[in-house]
Amino acid sequence: MILKKIIIGNWKMNPLTMKEAEKIFSGISKNLKNKKTEVAICPPFLYLEKLGKISKKVSLGAQNICLENGVGSYTGEVSAEMLINIKAKYVILGHSERRAGVLAPLSGESNQDVNKKIKMALDSSLVPVFCFGENERDENHEYLIFIKKQIEECLEKISKENISRMIIAYEPIWAIGKNAKREATPAEFREMSIYVKKILSDKFGIKINMPRIIYGGSVHPENVQGFLAEGADGFLVGRDSLDVKKFLSIVSSAETNF
Ligand code: PGA
Repeated sequence: MILKKIIIGNWKMNPLTMKEAEKIFSGISKNLKNKKTEVAICPPFLYLEKLGKISKKVSLGAQNICLENGVGSYTGEVSAEMLINIKAKYVILGHSERRAGVLAPLSGESNQDVNKKIKMALDSSLVPVFCFGENERDENHEYLIFIKKQIEECLEKISKENISRMIIAYEPIWAIGKNAKREATPAEFREMSIYVKKILSDKFGIKINMPRIIYGGSVHPENVQGFLAEGADGFLVGRDSLDVKKFLSIVSSAETNF
């Protein structure tokens, strides 16, 4: 089965008001001409339900879920089941901005937390968008050991059928956000994608039905073609997903790349 390419917007803690959120979301959904690609937006929790009523052309996702499901005494948390109830489809998990020891650790999630959340999402039929990536690259390629451990621990005891349903996003930390050193090169993405597929095959027994492997980190309309040419199954877009014109241009590039 050939899976559609997917372009996911990670709005992070943006924009400031519901009105602005509606404006950006409507701008995207009204002008979207996607046939061969799937498009999803992951806004802050409080905008999700209202945006879902604007258009069904754009799927919705969250940026986190609670370690516990259903309901309970977990102050400030939102469960996977609650998200399913408002028709969210995806959830970004393991993003470096939520992990321990990198950038601004808001909650300091460990690989074990991410693993638990991925299982929770899968059990509730949310599709996890699992982010992984190294903080920096060293000449001796030690970062590949770090990546292997990250993937193996985050996906531990998850069946190959479930991994095939997930979206795996390579997000090198040094390439993310406005302070990024640089974006990754398409060749670097390709190497990483091969490496991940090898881990998924060796450790998890996935030989066919590989999950979609997408790229994130300073994705812009100008650089998407290069990644697509090297086999990217889509993108996780931060800043440019808040800019209607740029986001639509990224989608239309993916549409024409077949
Ligand atoms: P960026 O963010 O596109 O603004 O670099 C990507 C991400 O963190 O998902």
